[in-house]
Amino acid sequence: MNGNLRLALQKKGRLTDKSLELLRLCGMDIENYSERLVVTARNFPLDILFLRDDDIPEYVRDGVADVGIVGEDVIYEKQIPSIIIEKLGFGRCSLMLAYPENKELKKLEDIDGKTIATTYPKILKDFLKSRSLDAKIIELSGSVEIAPSLGVADLICDIVSTGNTLMMNKLKKSFKVFDSEAVLISANSSLKDEKKNEYLTDLRRRIRSVMTAGSSKYLMMNIPKDSLSKIIDIIPSLKSPTVLHLAEENMLAVHAVIPSESFWQIIDDLKSAGASGILLLPIENLIQ
Ligand code: PRP
Ligand code: ZN
Repeated sequence: MNGNLRLALQKKGRLTDKSLELLRLCGMDIENYSERLVVTARNFPLDILFLRDDDIPEYVRDGVADVGIVGEDVIYEKQIPSIIIEKLGFGRCSLMLAYPENKELKKLEDIDGKTIATTYPKILKDFLKSRSLDAKIIELSGSVEIAPSLGVADLICDIVSTGNTLMMNKLKKSFKVFDSEAVLISANSSLKDEKKNEYLTDLRRRIRSVMTAGSSKYLMMNIPKDSLSKIIDIIPSLKSPTVLHLAEENMLAVHAVIPSESFWQIIDDLKSAGASGILLLPIENLIQ
């Protein structure tokens, strides 16, 4: 043990690249991990452990890793007490019921008496119980999407993200069981080791800054001097906009940080208020 903060990540799967990208945006210099189990950041006391995502809650509980990045689906399925310390806003997906394209399933009650293959037996059991449905659960450890074509099950209950896996297996999604996104977990609200706790506080601060930055954009434009108050009314700025003089008299430059999704709603209003040379730039970090 080298005193570094130990973070568990999914070795291979939907969350791997996005998790590494988040860490890089947090300023961590991480080498390409290829097939290694542990990688240490070059410029931060952080060891990254690459593990099967299903095992991460257990490793975090047992202290093998101090924190982990995993989907909420895994946490609820494993029912291992863990504390979600940050929601990470990526890896959004749903646990869904799906069935062969050539079959018909009109309403949820139609699954009564059917068999459902899944790697999420606990979540599925709770779901069926809460709706007083009686279906048989077949627990598998992977590749559930092929269960219907093998005649093992009528339906599957599995994670759907882009929907490609279902499409490739001629399945269509039906009812949603659970929504999930990636989260940062730990076993306790603070770590026992004081140094590690400091590293974690630093990491969380960086994560929040990256997340706020990701949902914001830097807007720049030139405007006629006399439309300033009109423009300020239009901009849904996080803070008061910056106003700069231009060499050209009667013109001003206005800069503001805005929520990303609002840009397309305000663009027409900005133009009709006289704005020109409108630029929208990504922000890497935003400290509030
Ligand atoms: C899930 C699921 C599918 C895939 C669906 O796997 O089991 O294979 O994602 O994604 P798509 O709709 O984009 O095709 P996950 O990444 O959780 O890996 P695991 O099953 O190995 O845990
Ligand atoms: Zn998994």
